[in-house]
Order: sequence, then structure tokens, then C-alpha cells
Amino acid sequence: MYQDKEMLASIKKVEAKRAENIKLDPRRMTAEEKEKLLATYHPDYKEDQFKQLVIGPNKGEKVPTELNQLLQGKSRIAGLDLDLTAPKYDVDVLIIGGGGAGCSCAIEATNAGANTMIVTKLRIGDANTMMAEGGIQAADKPNDSPAQHFLDAYGGGHFAAQKDLLYKLVMEAPEAIQWLSELGVEFDKAPDGTMITTHGGGTSRKRMHAAKDYSGAEIMRTLRDEVLSRGIPVLDFTAAIELIKDDEGKCAGAVLMNMESGEIYIARAKCVVIATGGAGRLHYQGFPTSNHYGATADGLILAYRAGARLLYPDTIQYHPTGVAFPAQIYGALVTEKVRSVGAMLVNKDGEVFMNPLETRDVSAASIIRECTDRGKGVKTPQGYAVWLDTPMIEEKFGAGTIEKRIPAMLRMFMRFGIDMRKEPILVYPTQHYQNGGIKITADGMSDIENLYVAGEAVGGIHGRNRLMGNSLLDIIVFGRNAGRSVGAKFKSVKLGKLTLDHVAAYEKERAAAGITDDTLSPKLLPDYTRVEKPAIDPDLR
Ligand code: FUM
Repeated sequence: MYQDKEMLASIKKVEAKRAENIKLDPRRMTAEEKEKLLATYHPDYKEDQFKQLVIGPNKGEKVPTELNQLLQGKSRIAGLDLDLTAPKYDVDVLIIGGGGAGCSCAIEATNAGANTMIVTKLRIGDANTMMAEGGIQAADKPNDSPAQHFLDAYGGGHFAAQKDLLYKLVMEAPEAIQWLSELGVEFDKAPDGTMITTHGGGTSRKRMHAAKDYSGAEIMRTLRDEVLSRGIPVLDFTAAIELIKDDEGKCAGAVLMNMESGEIYIARAKCVVIATGGAGRLHYQGFPTSNHYGATADGLILAYRAGARLLYPDTIQYHPTGVAFPAQIYGALVTEKVRSVGAMLVNKDGEVFMNPLETRDVSAASIIRECTDRGKGVKTPQGYAVWLDTPMIEEKFGAGTIEKRIPAMLRMFMRFGIDMRKEPILVYPTQHYQNGGIKITADGMSDIENLYVAGEAVGGIHGRNRLMGNSLLDIIVFGRNAGRSVGAKFKSVKLGKLTLDHVAAYEKERAAAGITDDTLSPKLLPDYTRVEKPAIDPDLR
């Protein structure tokens, strides 16, 4: 419920302009306008928030300061003398991460006959997949094609995507939808049984398939059920804290840590798959996040220390519409679907300031501009925000549309007395996705033999900005892809003697570079004992 006088006065202005705004079709920005906007307002362009790496495969490149500290951090096993000769676990395929990518990978690996185990530091399904709302893209309608999907994603990603990876993503998308449907995912359908599809930011065709506004939860439910009903072993509350190699430099397992007891276990594996997800809980630049509790970039740290190169680790996606009010759900995701079903972004005076379906980086930068230099933000306890005028949806498409199309959003705000059918909601960018990650080849393998990667931990599929709905897609396409690859590979792998020499070597490199910061990494869980700095200082102006 809104009680603040300034907010209430601003809502009156939004209401007064609504009828006029509904008729608007704001023009898209030109390429030059976008470039200028991004360079001035997007957080990725704030040079002082990045730091150059001084060791490791990406030495000399800049990454967010918080990630830099962890990539160059001290190993959790530094100085420990671990016995690698009698591993507690010995499997064909070890999958680190129990989200959508890890589960898809496990299903395909077991299809190929691999003895597969999943380890996850929280519980299976505690992952960004579960938090995904708006949908999954696939060009499976007669007016669309994978080529069209490719062009949208390639342009949206600033022409930086690895073409072979993006090609795989779009070509295998229709089959991914079919696979999920056959496993039991209940996608939204019209009465005649055809899939309902909508637009997302930057799409030229309606190709977003959804399960209302809890698409990720529906997909994760199905994948988790499939993994569990196949009896694939899952070790919950077990983190991977270091990779193990063999004496030929191939990946050969991982050092695991029981999150409750702190016990250390050794797992030997012919192939290892990193499916650890993103980094939202590192709260770059003080931003809130839409990510799940365990999103601390662990896979990037393990792979980097073992010698794998990262691609575009300096590019982060800030979802334009994170919740800005009330504080209890600060940073939670307000799905882009809210805009694709008709709501527009307006400033404190009720003015439309951008086309609602610009790409995410452009939308986030526009909101930040509105709240800073233009002074058109609505003041909130955390900073400033703009309105997402949700009552527009029902004015355009009739009563009941919100309940039918975005029921989870309706419930989330209703818990705090805000009825988005009648009142607009306050939003501000939230850290949502890491566009960059570990570099892979099209079969999913990193620079290290037998170390594969799937899901958000991969870099390069989307270039420097991802379109909505291509992440749920990539966890399925590249999760299955990694599963098939390791399913074919493990049969010919002969492991040598296990070693952690690369960890000792990294410690030496740290010392030689004069790094004295002994922050332990991977981080595993966020530290909320420190006070978060608001993304926008309320006294900025
Ligand atoms: O806005 C959303 O529902 C988010 C989707 C995505 O990141 O793909």
C-alpha cells in the first residue's frame, strides 16, 4: 500500500496521463542514441567499478571489482594436505550444480549410460532457473525461423556472440520446447492446443513460450522430477571448492565440502560439468539482485584457477524492472512479460520515456538516466525508481488479464497491499544475469580437457547482452549438449594420477604478483552481515 505523499501525488499524474499514454507507440532509439545512452548510464561503462586481473588466463583484462577479488582469491584448500588416492566418490560424470542446466545435462548423460552424480551446495532446484519468470524463446511458428531468432539475438548482443554457439542455441530451440513438453512442462496454450507466444525486448517475432509468469519454476519442477525419478544420485548441501586434475592436465574430479559439517570429500570423475549459474549475489556496484541465494560465481572461480579462459566477464545484465518498493522484496524480478502484455514505463510525472520493448541494457540505462540526470525518478526508501504502469494492461485487454497472464506478479505485490490491477508499481534495475562466463567450444568443453560447462556459467552464447527468454533456452540446449558430449566422451577417458598441483601453482602466482588479499574463494554464500550500499544514493541530487 502506498502511503508516502510524494508517491501518491505522482500516482495521480500517472493516472491523469494513462488514457493518452495507452495510445502512444514510442519510437525505438537509433543505434547512435543507444550507444550514447549506454556509455553514459549503463553500469558496465563505469570504469572505476572494474579492476584488471594480474594473474590467470585473462591477465590484463578488466572484470567487476567484486569478481576480481574472488578470481584472484585464496583457495579454500591452500595449505591442506588432502589424500587423493582413495576418493569417496568415483563416477563417470560429475555435475556441479543442480539447476536447469545441471539437470538437463544429467538426464542426457544417463541416457548415454554414464554413471552420473550431481552435487549442489544448496538443494536440487535452488537455482536461477527456478526464479525465471517470463518464458523461453523458440522460433517454432510459421511466421518465424531460427535465422530470424539468430539475427535478433546477435544484434541484441551487440554482434559479439560466438556465432557457432548462438547458431546451436537457435537451431535446437524448437526441439528443446518439444523435449520439455514431452517431459511434462505445461506451457500456455490456446484452446486449439497451439502454444501461446509473446514478444520480449528486442524480438522481431512473438516466440516467447511461457507457463504464465512462473515459467522457470515449471521447467525446474519437471527437470527435478525427472532426475529424481531416474534415481540419479544428488548430493545436496555439498559444494565443489576446487577442481582436481590428473597428471596430464585433464580435469579429473573435484574437492567437495559438506556445507553443514565442513567435511571435505574427494570425487574422481572422467568428465566434470560446471553448471553453477550466475553471480547476482556478489551485488556488483551495490545493486540488488533477482538471483537465488547461491549465485556467487563459484564455477568461474574453480575453472579460472584451473586454467580456463573466461569470455566477456566484464558484461553484466541489469534487468530493467527489479522491484524498487516495498523494501521487503527490493530487487526481486518483475518479469519483462509485464511489459510484453502491455504495461509501459513512465516517470514521476507520468511521462513515457522509452519504447517498452527496447533491449534490456538500453531499458536499464534509460531508467537510470530518468532517475539521475533527468531528475524524473520517484523517491523511495532505497533511492529512486520509475513506475511500471500495470493498470494499463487491463484498460487495454480487459479485466482479468493480469490474473490470467501474470498471476505470480499479482500475488507478490498483493502480499504488501499493492493491487497492480489498480495501482502502478515502482521498479529500478536489478543485477540479473552474467552475460560472460567460461569460454567453451560448441561441444561444451572449456580450455581444460574433460571440463565441460553449461548454463549461465558459459560465456559468449549471448554476446554482450542477452535477450529475454534465451537463458531458459540456453540451460536446456547447452545442458543437454554437455550431457550428450560427456556421454560420448567418458567411455574413452583414462585418468592418470590425481593432483592439485594447479592450486599450489596458483598460490605461487598470487604471491609472485604481490597479492596479499587472502579473501577465500569460491565464496559459496553471500555475506549479509555488511550493510548494502544502495545502488542510487537518495541524496544524489
Ligand atoms: O523478465 C523475465 O521474465 C526474465 C527472463 C529472462 O531473463 O530470460
